[in-house]
Amino acid sequence: MSCLARLIGQLCVNQLPETALDKKAAPLLKSEALCKNFKGLQALRNHNVELYPGEILGIIGPNGSGKSTLFNVITGFSPPSSGSVVFDGTIITGWRPDRVVGRGIARTFQGSRLFKALTAAENVEVAAQKLGRPGLLATLTRFGGYESSQIAIRERAKALMELVGLSRWSERRAGDLPYGAQRRLEIARAMATGPKLLMLDEPAAGLNTHETKDLMELIRGLRDQFGVAIIVVEHDMDLIGNLCERVQVLAQGELICEGTFDVVQRDPRVRGAYLGHD
Ligand SMILES: Nc1ncnc2c1ncn2[C@@H]1O[C@H](COP(=O)(O)OP(=O)(O)OP(=O)(O)O)[C@@H](O)[C@H]1O
Ligand SMILES: [Mg+2]
Repeated sequence: MSCLARLIGQLCVNQLPETALDKKAAPLLKSEALCKNFKGLQALRNHNVELYPGEILGIIGPNGSGKSTLFNVITGFSPPSSGSVVFDGTIITGWRPDRVVGRGIARTFQGSRLFKALTAAENVEVAAQKLGRPGLLATLTRFGGYESSQIAIRERAKALMELVGLSRWSERRAGDLPYGAQRRLEIARAMATGPKLLMLDEPAAGLNTHETKDLMELIRGLRDQFGVAIIVVEHDMDLIGNLCERVQVLAQGELICEGTFDVVQRDPRVRGAYLGHD
């Protein structure tokens, strides 16, 4: 294992199973009958998912079909109206987002949520603080390894910046980075929290074909090197088809089809959902 991988590996508590998709293992994530209602609108209806360690699951569906709502419900940004989420053996239904992150689920958002005025490296360091967080006394007195933990955080952030290919942008304001670099920075920031599950909401939106291909390799590399399981929402079907071992299709808040990309793309219900008829 390279020095870089070792450094980042300290962040990632997961070990890659012998086969990337180890269904003999207990599911890492299991959500059951998840519903989310917004007044009269059922944005998510009885959604179920099982995700295994090291698996890459794609979620597709037309605009407004509930993909981001599903992310919000699992990660605590919007508690479910009903249903349950079990992650790594713990019921996390309705937990606050910071607690969910602490348990091992990191996410990116459809729109950028970077701290635009901070440097790129600082964005990652802020996220990495969680892991090496010293006690209050240590913070106040600078005793108890505070300095060394800060150095470790900076080192880890540096390693992550290198991993996502952004070293040369480290000291630039995040808001000044080219769009594609900002999207990669969001992934580095999510990885800095040491997740077992990484959830990416349209990571390729706005990227060109070349950037999308690079991003796909980055995402696959994160799984292969660190064993992190990944759920990716995307409209880019090349990315979904090339990256995901399994795909779920949502339409009007409902899971209408699940299987390999080859299987779901041939399913008449899926074609109907995209064309707007049954
Ligand atoms: N906070 C909210 N309040 C009211 N309605 C909402 C809210 N969030 C989402 N919705 C509605 O829920 C439905 C699902 O939205 P969601 O954002 O999950 O779709 P999506 O599949 O992510 O779409 P897209 O591909 O466009 O990102 C939509 O009809 C949307 O307008
Ligand atoms: Mg969305």
